[in-house]
Amino acid sequence: MEKFNNILPDLKKAKIRTKDQTIIKREIFDLPEQVKNLGVGRTYFLRTYGCQANERDSETIAGILEVMSFTKVDNEEDADVLFFNTCAIRKNAEDKVFGEIGMLKKLKRKNPDLIFALSGCMAQEESVVNTLLAKYPQVDLIFGTHNIHRLPYLLYNAMMSKEKTVEVYSEEGEIVENLPVSRFGKYKAWVNIMYGCDKFCTYCIVPYTRGKQRSRLMEDILEEIEELKREGYQEVCLLGQNVNAYGKDLGMEDGFAKLLEEVAKTNIPRIRFSTSHPRDFCENMVHVMKKYTNIMPSLHLPVQSGNNDILKIMGRGYTVEHYKHLYDLLKQEIPNITFSTDIIVGFPNETHEQFLDTLALVDYCKYDLAYTFIYSPRESTPAAKMVDNVPEEEKSKRLQMLNEKITYYSNLNNQKYLHKTLKVLVDGLSKKNKEVYSGYSEENKLVNFTGKNVEVGKIVEVYITEIKSYSLNGIVKEETDEQS
Ligand code: 5AD
Ligand code: SF4
Repeated sequence: MEKFNNILPDLKKAKIRTKDQTIIKREIFDLPEQVKNLGVGRTYFLRTYGCQANERDSETIAGILEVMSFTKVDNEEDADVLFFNTCAIRKNAEDKVFGEIGMLKKLKRKNPDLIFALSGCMAQEESVVNTLLAKYPQVDLIFGTHNIHRLPYLLYNAMMSKEKTVEVYSEEGEIVENLPVSRFGKYKAWVNIMYGCDKFCTYCIVPYTRGKQRSRLMEDILEEIEELKREGYQEVCLLGQNVNAYGKDLGMEDGFAKLLEEVAKTNIPRIRFSTSHPRDFCENMVHVMKKYTNIMPSLHLPVQSGNNDILKIMGRGYTVEHYKHLYDLLKQEIPNITFSTDIIVGFPNETHEQFLDTLALVDYCKYDLAYTFIYSPRESTPAAKMVDNVPEEEKSKRLQMLNEKITYYSNLNNQKYLHKTLKVLVDGLSKKNKEVYSGYSEENKLVNFTGKNVEVGKIVEVYITEIKSYSLNGIVKEETDEQS
């Protein structure tokens, strides 16, 4: 095996965008014998932080490790190799990871041969990697979001040389097809349709950690979905940081509407997608969503703020009026649609009045669900150069006010499902009660229910008997029928 040279992240390089065509690598994954057998008699533990893109990357990491004959364990203490696939979106996400790495010291003392690997978005940050190298001797291997396919060789080097192995690419990124995958679900699957992001919202680190926007070819996506269908998958979620921009880098117009229509024609029972950007959301999309019943009537449409001046300094590229127009159109065309969103409070210079505009927008859109965040400055982003001048106490107060409103509307929206029947894809037994099943309705409502002969992975009709703020309770339809 060749001598290994460490490659450290470089955020300045990560910012660069060229007009070069994305390289598509079709990985054959033919590993040398000694690398392929590295996992014989060895175990791995993998923890994922952050978003669905990271979940999906973890499925690739798991797939590669299984090709290398590693066996998965559910407890970190039983592992020979430990992986943390990390998220960099906010500082508190990172602090959590640092805390958990700190605790690994104990495990390392018990098992000096234990290998600890850190991957994902945190690995793409210079300051994080420098801190890990200087202060966390328990870290053996660091690799980034662009070179997961290199894992077999990196792990081999870390295990055999016993030297710290760091390889993080900061170039725009490629598309690597045909990597092994060990999917965590049997009925619902994540399908990447694109990687990276070129939007550069001023607060966001993702364009730096995940590189330029690279759309997969439509035929590769459709082939993956056809295969999932053959394997019995009921639901696919099309993933990208900005799915509505799908195909722009391939010179397609209205690419996402076209792709979505083709995916719908595969007749896979359920299709979801995430995340949509209001700026790239074209009206054709609304028509496609309306036309096909296997495209689920639920949309995650992050708004971030309800004030035009704040949206402008966030670099979002749309106005509140445009957002409301899209919302109205979707509601009008798809009356049973549900909405979720992301909102940031306490962005630099956000005044109380500007925050009230966000509350007013929530009153307008009456979201079913919202992920709400306190602004967190991120290394190398333009917003990090602005003065983070909203006092912490004020940020927390705004978050609390916002969350109260969100819960109010979630509860209010849920009322309309009482005594109605919803179609639910059965995920399994509820985490809290082993006699209760849970799953999601077409509208993306979490439903907990009881019933006879319930089969995981099937779509069942559930009669709703009780409303909670963030879930619904019910009974499988046949049972109600028998009782009545
Ligand atoms: N601070 C707080 N929230 C952020 N998000 C992204 N970057 C930041 C940041 N620096 C939020 C946005 C985004 C979601 C995934 O995370 O709301 O939509
Ligand atoms: Fe996902 Fe963004 Fe977190 Fe990376 S930083 S894991 S892309 S949410």
